Amino acid sequence: MSEPTGATRRRGPFQVGDQVQLTDPKGRHYTFTLQAGNQFHTHKGAFPHDELIGAPEGTVVRTTGNVPYLALRPLLPDYVLSMPRGAAVIYPKDAGQILAMADIFAGARVVEAGVGSGALSTYLLRAVGDTGMLASYERRQDFADIAQGNVERYFGGPHPAWKLTVGDLQDNLVETDVDRVILDMLAPWECLDVASKALVPGGLICCYVATTTQMSRTVEALREHGTFTEPQAWETMVRTWHLEGLAVRPDHRMIGHTGFLLTARRLADGVEPPLRRRRPAKGSYGEDYDAGEPEPTLAERAAARRAARETAPAEARSID
Ligand SMILES: C[S@@+](CC[C@H](N)C(=O)[O-])C[C@H]1O[C@@H](n2cnc3c(N)ncnc32)[C@H](O)[C@@H]1O
Repeated sequence: MSEPTGATRRRGPFQVGDQVQLTDPKGRHYTFTLQAGNQFHTHKGAFPHDELIGAPEGTVVRTTGNVPYLALRPLLPDYVLSMPRGAAVIYPKDAGQILAMADIFAGARVVEAGVGSGALSTYLLRAVGDTGMLASYERRQDFADIAQGNVERYFGGPHPAWKLTVGDLQDNLVETDVDRVILDMLAPWECLDVASKALVPGGLICCYVATTTQMSRTVEALREHGTFTEPQAWETMVRTWHLEGLAVRPDHRMIGHTGFLLTARRLADGVEPPLRRRRPAKGSYGEDYDAGEPEPTLAERAAARRAARETAPAEARSID
C-alpha cells in the first residue's frame, strides 16, 4: 500500500528537498530546504547541507565557528508559523480545536474559505487525507499563490484531495454533499446561504472570527437562517510553562487572544429549528426586544447612584 501524500517526508533519514528546522543554543529556530552542495550560513560560521543528507533527525551539526545546531524536521505547528505569509494564519491551538470540534475525519468532503496563507488548508488536508476532498476558496490571487506554495512545499508537491479556487466563496461555491464548511474571513454571515446549500443534513459549519462583534453577528445570522442548530461558541487559551529546577510556573507571556470559534449543524431540509428552551437574558436584544419593560426613571437612577455611593468603600467615596 502506498503511503499517504507527504508521509514519506515526515520520517526517516534527511533527504534532499526536506524542510529542516535548526535550533541554536539560545533556542532560536531557522528553517531551510535541504539541497545537495549548498551551505547553511550563520553569523557564527557555516556548514554544508551534505552533512545532514542521509543523517537521522535529531542530529547535531557544528558550524565552522564550532556552534552546535540541532536539526529536526519542523512539525506542522512549527512549519505554519515559519512559512511565508500573506494573510495572518490560524494559530496551531485554534487549528487543533477546529480539527477536533469540527470533527474533520479521513475521507471527509470539506469546503474552506478564505485560504489566506494556507495554514489551515494544510491541517485540513492532512486530516481528510488522500481519499477526502478539500475545496478551498480565496478571493485574492496573491494570497492563493502564497498558500499554494506553502501547501505544496509541505506535502512535497500537489495534494490529490485539494482544489483551490480564486474568488469569493459566496459567488463560486460549486461543491454539494459537503460534510464540513470552515470559514475564516471577515464576514462569514455573507456565506451562510451557500454553505447551507452545500452541506449535507447533519453537516457542520465552523466559523473562526477575531472579534466579539463578528461573533455576535454570525450567531444571529445562523439563527435567522433557520437551517442550522443553535450555534455554540468558545475560545481557547493556552498557557505555556517555565520549567527550571524549583522554578516551575506559568510563563510570564502568553498569546492572550487569537479568535473565537463557532459551530452549528445543518438541519434536514424543511425542518424548523427546535425552539430554544432558555429565554434570552433581559436586555439581550436591546430596546426593541425589551419594548414591554419599563426603563428606570431619572429619579430611580439617581437613587441607585446615591445608594451605590453610600455602600462604596471610603477611598472610593473620597475620589468622588
Ligand atoms: C485570515 S485569512 C485566512 C487565513 C487562513 N485560514 C490560514 O490559516 O492561513 C482570511 C482570508 O479570507 C479571504 N476572504 C475574505 N472573504 C472571503 C470570501 N468571501 N471568499 C473567499 N475568500 C475570502 C481574505 O482574502 C483572506 O485571505
